[in-house]
Amino acid sequence: MRGYVSVRLTNMRRILSTSILSYISLLERNLPSRASLTLGQQSVFAQRFCRKVTTDSSSMDLSDMRKKYKGDEECFEESQLVSLDPIKQFGNWFDEATKCPEIGEANAMCIATATKDGRPSARMVLLKGYSDEGFRFFTNYESRKGSELESNPYACLVFYWEPLNRQIRIEGAVERIPFQSSCDYFHSRPKSSQIGAVVSRQSTPVPNRDYLRQKNAELEEKYKDTQVPMPDYWGGYIVKPYLIEFWQGQTNRLHDRIVFTKPKDGESELGEFQHAAEGGWVYQRLSP
Ligand SMILES: Cc1cc2nc3c(=O)[nH]c(=O)nc-3n(C[C@H](O)[C@H](O)[C@H](O)COP(=O)(O)O)c2cc1C
Repeated sequence: MRGYVSVRLTNMRRILSTSILSYISLLERNLPSRASLTLGQQSVFAQRFCRKVTTDSSSMDLSDMRKKYKGDEECFEESQLVSLDPIKQFGNWFDEATKCPEIGEANAMCIATATKDGRPSARMVLLKGYSDEGFRFFTNYESRKGSELESNPYACLVFYWEPLNRQIRIEGAVERIPFQSSCDYFHSRPKSSQIGAVVSRQSTPVPNRDYLRQKNAELEEKYKDTQVPMPDYWGGYIVKPYLIEFWQGQTNRLHDRIVFTKPKDGESELGEFQHAAEGGWVYQRLSP
């Protein structure tokens, strides 16, 4: 597991979503005095706004909702790839996302898994490291995603960095990381997070919130002077990619899509629009 780029970002929590903030600024413009609106009042207005949308309308027409993407002069050409190694290209876009102040959690990604008979499910997790080997995240092995991965060890990851108009899709085979690597990471987390992982038998029903609160308090007392043992149902996975697609949104909807794939063993012929890349990868441009 050496050589991983550890994803440690401060300021990873976004307090208010951009949409609520933009609503508040819209709201403020219609108020007699901007200064007269306290943060608390803004929050109440924002809540009312959200409630209105969900309760007053049984059907929302969002057909006009689209944002302006980049100009054609800013398109993403093959010559702009910083590397023909897609992991390095990922690193470049990821670094730019982490430096973008409007992106609260650049390492938040959607991971899709599926049951053995192909029924998909998806949720967000945090990327905790990446290298030539693949992309790492941590979870409960007995959760819904955990059990789906045990019976069907493939996943798709999607990052969407809205202020940059960028999306990255990664598909790969999934394996558990070594026990010791999970342990090392588990104990590097704040103690409250370690206890949280023990408290939560993720994805199983519980009677109410108090049940979790009480269990948490009991474990905080139990482990107040000792290390929290990592539960055997918790640990990391690595997604070993065979496809990585870079998507750059454009104003004119001629979005850029450059996809890298790893040919299967024995597949050596390049397709009509395919080009050789680095590390056994090939790449091509897809129609948006
Ligand atoms: C931004 C964000 C980050 C999250 N990160 C993690 C994570 O790293 N690991 C995890 O197990 N769950 C994480 N969650 C919670 C998952 O989305 C999900 O609720 C949980 O893992 C249970 O999913 P499952 O029942 O499909 O297995 C995160 C949720 C959000 C919104």
